[in-house]
Amino acid sequence: MNINDKNKGKYVSAPKKYFEDRYKNRDDRWSKRDESFEIVREIELIIKELCESKSIIHLLDIGCGRMPISLPFIEKHNNVLAIGIDWAFNEILESYPELMSGINKTGRLRVINSDFLSFESIPKFDIVIDLGTFHHIAPIDWGTYLSSLINLITEDGYFLLESFHVDDHNWGLSKPGGHIRKNYYCHYHNIDSIKSIFGKDFSSIKETVQGKHWEHVVALFKMQRRRPTKATHKRQRWRRAENA
Ligand SMILES: C[S@@+](CC[C@H](N)C(=O)[O-])C[C@H]1O[C@@H](n2cnc3c(N)ncnc32)[C@H](O)[C@@H]1O
Repeated sequence: MNINDKNKGKYVSAPKKYFEDRYKNRDDRWSKRDESFEIVREIELIIKELCESKSIIHLLDIGCGRMPISLPFIEKHNNVLAIGIDWAFNEILESYPELMSGINKTGRLRVINSDFLSFESIPKFDIVIDLGTFHHIAPIDWGTYLSSLINLITEDGYFLLESFHVDDHNWGLSKPGGHIRKNYYCHYHNIDSIKSIFGKDFSSIKETVQGKHWEHVVALFKMQRRRPTKATHKRQRWRRAENA
């Protein structure tokens, strides 16, 4: 089933239960990653740059799962304070209880079992990463996702987003679009769709297509928060009012 703007609003984002069940069955094959992923190189570069002006760096991992990238990263950098948020984290811990000792060992990582779309935090984050969550968010929730993200990221903070890419061709999509797979939503993006969603609030958007990760061709989109102008503040207020 393809989705286009005409259908926008008809579909809901990935149901929480779908992920809870996958974790309960220890079927989270998307977690199999290693240090060769582009995201690792990109976070290292950003940390190096931020270290020149900050002694402590705040990182947020949206839809963190078992944190295959962020946990080893936080272990390595003792100037990084991090939060991972995932609405299925209780189920993740039930299936992988050993994860807790890794988290406790760092002493610098807090994990929150909650829906990202209603998450608020002080302080804001210098780096936000989303590896495989936004592409399960349906267009009807993009506005809410963006408002949450904007409220959570520092004025010139970095956002690293890993998403299914249109080059995947699994679903015969030749341009950005989405469909319902079994009972959950998937959206395939490219640089144009990402620019149209994030371009008003983020600059320097760069796409790196990474090839196959488990069943899918994924891409990493790197971008930096634009410093807000009066117009951006106004837009944010409208968005918050629309989403209220
Ligand atoms: C494909 S998995 C990726 C997990 C992890 N980032 C990784 O790379 O292994 C997507 C994750 O997003 C979480 N998720 C989806 N929608 C969410 C939401 N609205 N709030 C919080 N977590 C969400 C799911 O529970 C799941 O763990």
